[in-house]
Amino acid sequence: MGKISSLIRSLGKKRFNSAIILAAGSGTRFSGEKKKQFEEICGLPVIVRSALAFEKCDEIHEIVVVTGAPDIEWTRKILRQHGITKLTTVVSGGATRRASAKRGFDAANTECDFVLIHDAARCLVTPEMIESALEAAYVHGAAACATVAVDTLKRTDTVGIIKETVDRENVFMVQTPQVFMADMYRAAAYMAERDGIEATDDCGLCERLGFKVKLVECGKTNIKITYPEDVIIAEAILHSRERSEAK
Ligand code: CTP
Ligand code: MG
Repeated sequence: MGKISSLIRSLGKKRFNSAIILAAGSGTRFSGEKKKQFEEICGLPVIVRSALAFEKCDEIHEIVVVTGAPDIEWTRKILRQHGITKLTTVVSGGATRRASAKRGFDAANTECDFVLIHDAARCLVTPEMIESALEAAYVHGAAACATVAVDTLKRTDTVGIIKETVDRENVFMVQTPQVFMADMYRAAAYMAERDGIEATDDCGLCERLGFKVKLVECGKTNIKITYPEDVIIAEAILHSRERSEAK
C-alpha cells in the first residue's frame, strides 16, 4: 500500500472508491470475430483481465462495468465466474465513450469519494498502476496514468505533408485509469453533457473547467488493445511478466 493510503487508513478515515470500466465500444479498428473487450489474451477475456486488476487493489471498493445492452448478462456471468466480488452492477453504455462513462458514473455509489474511469481495452493495467494514480489523486484531486512520448512528433496537413515538428518536451501519452474526486468528476461530466462536448478522455472534461490533473508515469506496458496486432504485443508483455515473477 502507498504511503498516503496507509496514512489515511491510520487516521481512521474511511474512503469509498468506485472503478468504472468502459466496455461498450464497437471496436471498429480491431475488426475481429469477437468485440475486442471479449477477446481472450493468454486465455482470459480482456474485460476479465481489466476487472481483476481492480479486484486485487485494496483501495477499490466497487466495480461498475459498462457494456452494450446485449452483452450485459454474459459480462455479469463471466466476471462472477472469475471471482470479481466487487462488481456492483453492469449497465448499458451510450453512443460515445463520454456518454458511457457518464452512465457508469450515474450507476456508481452516490457517496463515493473518488471515481476511477478505465478503458476495458487497457487490460494490462496492474494493481500497482491503479494505486499510484489513486495516490496522486489523493494529493492533487485528479490524476491519470500516462507515459512520456518517445517518438519525434510531427503535425501534418490533411494529405500527410509535415507542417512542423512538435516540441516533445513535457509531452505525455495519456492512459487509464483516470482518477477524480467524485464531486469534480460529477461537475465535469454534467457540464460536458450540457455543452455537447465529446472528449476522448475524462481528463479533458475536467481540464476544460480549469481543474488540475496530475500525470503519473506508468511506462509502456499499459497498452490499449486497439488493432489486432496489439493482442500479440499484450501476450508478449504478459509472458515477460510471468517470467520475471517466476524468478
Ligand atoms: N467505449 C465505451 N462506449 C463507447 C465507446 C467506447 O464504453 N461508446 C469503451 C471501449 O469499449 C473501450 C474504451 O471505451 O474499452 C476506449 O475506447 P476505444 O479503444 O476507442 O474502443 P472502441 O471505441 O470500441 O474502438 P474503435 O474506436 O476502434 O471503434
Ligand atoms: Mg473508440
